[in-house]
Amino acid sequence: MDRTLVICKPDAVERGLVGEIVGRFERKGLKLVAAELRTLDSDVLARHYAEHVGKGFYDDLVAFMGRGPVLAAVVEGPPDTWSVVRQMMGATDPMKAAPGTIRGDLGTEVTENLVHGSDSAESAQREIAIFFPDLQ
Ligand code: RTP
Ligand code: MG
Repeated sequence: MDRTLVICKPDAVERGLVGEIVGRFERKGLKLVAAELRTLDSDVLARHYAEHVGKGFYDDLVAFMGRGPVLAAVVEGPPDTWSVVRQMMGATDPMKAAPGTIRGDLGTEVTENLVHGSDSAESAQREIAIFFPDLQ
């Protein structure tokens, strides 16, 4: 089995869409193996989004991701589960995300795009260790 990190971002919690988002992954056949509501501080966000530190959109990204609780979760499924999750999320910009995807169906703004998913097997391993270090 394979695991990846999912975050229902603050906009998803605020809009009451956590059940909708997690439900899509569950209906697909992925299994929830960890989940917790928490508010992310700038240190955790700098580790999580290390590849984006210093970019033009980074300050807005951190302000958004830290403005309220997120649901951090780990889902499990077949090999390359990270890729299944990314396909179901849709493109980063919800205006370009295909209908049928989470971002395509539920969002309009690139800054508030509802959901995060690890973008590779290596990212999944790294990010799960940040958010759920006790999960073996
Ligand atoms: P995420 O990491 O949050 O799952 O999103 P992603 O892989 O689809 O996109 P990524 O390139 O990792 O960017 C992280 C988040 O930064 C915001 N962003 N804004 N204004 C821009 O050009 C821009 N580019 C990225 C998005 O909110 C994106 O989710
Ligand atoms: Mg990303």
